[in-house]
Amino acid sequence: MRQHKLALCKEHYLEWVPEQTERFIRKYGMFGHDDKILVAVSGGKDSLSLWDILVRLGYQADGLYIGLGIDAGIGYSSESHRLAEKFANDHNLKLQVVDIEKEYGQPIPVLAQISHRGHGKPCAVCGLTKRHVMNRIARDLGYDVLATGHNLDDEAAVLFGNTLSWSVEYLLRQGPVLPSADGLARKAKPLCRLYEREMTAYAILRGIEYIYEECPFAEGSTSIYYKEVLNRLENDRPGAKLTFYLRFLEARQTGLFAESKEPADYLHPCSNCGQATSAPGLCSFCRLIEKVADQAPLVSNL
Ligand code: AMP
Ligand code: FES
Ligand code: ZN
Repeated sequence: MRQHKLALCKEHYLEWVPEQTERFIRKYGMFGHDDKILVAVSGGKDSLSLWDILVRLGYQADGLYIGLGIDAGIGYSSESHRLAEKFANDHNLKLQVVDIEKEYGQPIPVLAQISHRGHGKPCAVCGLTKRHVMNRIARDLGYDVLATGHNLDDEAAVLFGNTLSWSVEYLLRQGPVLPSADGLARKAKPLCRLYEREMTAYAILRGIEYIYEECPFAEGSTSIYYKEVLNRLENDRPGAKLTFYLRFLEARQTGLFAESKEPADYLHPCSNCGQATSAPGLCSFCRLIEKVADQAPLVSNL
């Protein structure tokens, strides 16, 4: 791990990852040992490893698998379902399963086609559906918190996208833990400071069977492109990805984006033109014009 200037053997690595995760859970106040946790498991390395880590740390964690019905080609959904069930059975854990087609009449690709009238990828509809189902199951079945397997690479890529477009609304909501509000469950991302390759190493060393393939619709996605860009940066400057994410969290805590919450708090109409300004009295433009007018006699005497 070049970014930490740290190299560990298998035995110590398998202790280090849960120790780090426990540290982040406490640092960000994600949940405690009395909380009932629902881990959203996709059958991939991150979420299955997260479930494994939480159980090893002694947390009460059930799983939730959402059957999306994405089965053309490699049978992505059936295989990921099989692996999530296998993990639950092997470890004697409880897995909640929601099948989208059974519950809502159609699998994700068809729901997306209906929604887009046949155009585009299903990812947006899929994301929306997954968020809805996760919240519903967590609330209806009385879980205190929903945990997802988002790793540092996922979080840095989302942050990169939101920063490129300065989507302040999204930036304000991105973090390791989101409190429950308006009927939405509390959400936590205990792996948010662990690199994707650290999670791959963990899953392999623990002998976790997970689905290697990405969702077939992920190919060519913007988030994969951002991950590649960040990997190039990380390759030249080890730790760049982690610094990018951690400095963002610090900046957010010190209120970097606080003003954006209530523009009315710091903006007021300019006393001349009436346009919104943060400067006291005149706006910058009217100030400039005033200055020009003050200098006009000098200019006309030249
Ligand atoms: P993704 O949006 O595919 O990168 O997945 C992010 C996280 O969402 C994963 O780490 C899981 O915790 C959760 N997740 C994704 N797909 C599913 C699924 N089909 N069922 C349950 N949880 C999922
Ligand atoms: Fe949902 Fe790919 S479209 S996982
Ligand atoms: Zn709704």
